[in-house]
Amino acid sequence: MVHDLDQLKTDLLGSIDAAAGLDALEVLRVHALGKAGAITGLLKTLGGMSPEERQTEGPRIHALREAVTEALARRKAVLERKAMDAKLASETLDMTLPADGIAPGSVHPVSQVMDELAEIFADLGFAVATGPEIETQWYNFSALNMPETHPARAMHDTFYLQAAEGEEAHVLRTHTSPVQIRAMHAAGGQQPVRIIAPGRTYRSDSDATHTPMFHQVEGLVIDKGITLGHLKWTLETFLKAFFERDDIVLRLRPSYFPFTEPSAEVDVGYSLVNGKRVIGGSEGWMEVLGSGMVHRTVIEAGGYDPNEWQGFAFGCGIDRLAMLKYGMDDLRAFFDGDVRWLRHYGFSALDVPTLSGGVGA
Ligand code: PHE
Repeated sequence: MVHDLDQLKTDLLGSIDAAAGLDALEVLRVHALGKAGAITGLLKTLGGMSPEERQTEGPRIHALREAVTEALARRKAVLERKAMDAKLASETLDMTLPADGIAPGSVHPVSQVMDELAEIFADLGFAVATGPEIETQWYNFSALNMPETHPARAMHDTFYLQAAEGEEAHVLRTHTSPVQIRAMHAAGGQQPVRIIAPGRTYRSDSDATHTPMFHQVEGLVIDKGITLGHLKWTLETFLKAFFERDDIVLRLRPSYFPFTEPSAEVDVGYSLVNGKRVIGGSEGWMEVLGSGMVHRTVIEAGGYDPNEWQGFAFGCGIDRLAMLKYGMDDLRAFFDGDVRWLRHYGFSALDVPTLSGGVGA
């Protein structure tokens, strides 16, 4: 028996290490550990042993099973890696092949609206800025006048990442406002800033009008002598161009954001046409964005002297803009990847938005 077990172990481990492929390895596994396997058979003999015999043989058989299980797992990992390497080495993708015979894809409404925004704001002298989706709490909150104890932090339903030992947790940015600070830093505290920052944002929230990942566009102007009048004119010009209508009416409602003072929420008026809401007129109001004059503390965090520089900022949900303009009613469908939805609401890749052609092309 003693000899048998040692021999079995040497044989099994030897063939496992020599197994040439995953199929061969599976055969070995069944041979050793399957229902009728050699080790399974040995385990069954334990029941017929005397207690003394079992005390010496039991641990040996179990140790054998463990050693074989481990060897199988080790070899499997090696073979899988080999298989993947071979696959990567053999498969190629020729990006230059013509797309003949392939059903063309469509541009997602969110991408289309982002392009429309870039087009509209480029005409007003704004550059497009970006920032990381995984942010530090300083950029996402503290620099925006939301210190650690600020209640607004809790209101954001933030996703926190696991922190490394002794380090502060990063967050998935809850808004595009941290790009305000990054853009000010990039401009170095001496130059005016005019940017929009479209991108993904995240909050732990999900229903017909909220998804855990959504899109915002941030706008920021820093210069000397900037007033609320500049903010209102810019928003009006933007929304008229975006909805392609001259009868857009805005309503600025006093509001509160920690990073702007004063702050205003902006509603756009709609009319009812055959019971449907159509943007324009003022029969009813829909909230479209948050805005305000950049708070002194935020200007300072951005490296500018608030006694010399002023600015305005706004933040707007891109998905919501797309819904209002193109008539979708369930936000969740945006991110289902359903080809039928994309065919219906998507745009042709050749529909590049231009101001002269009408941004919605
Ligand atoms: N960051 C705010 C939000 O996500 C929007 C906002 C941006 C408000 C800039 C004012 C100025 O709700």
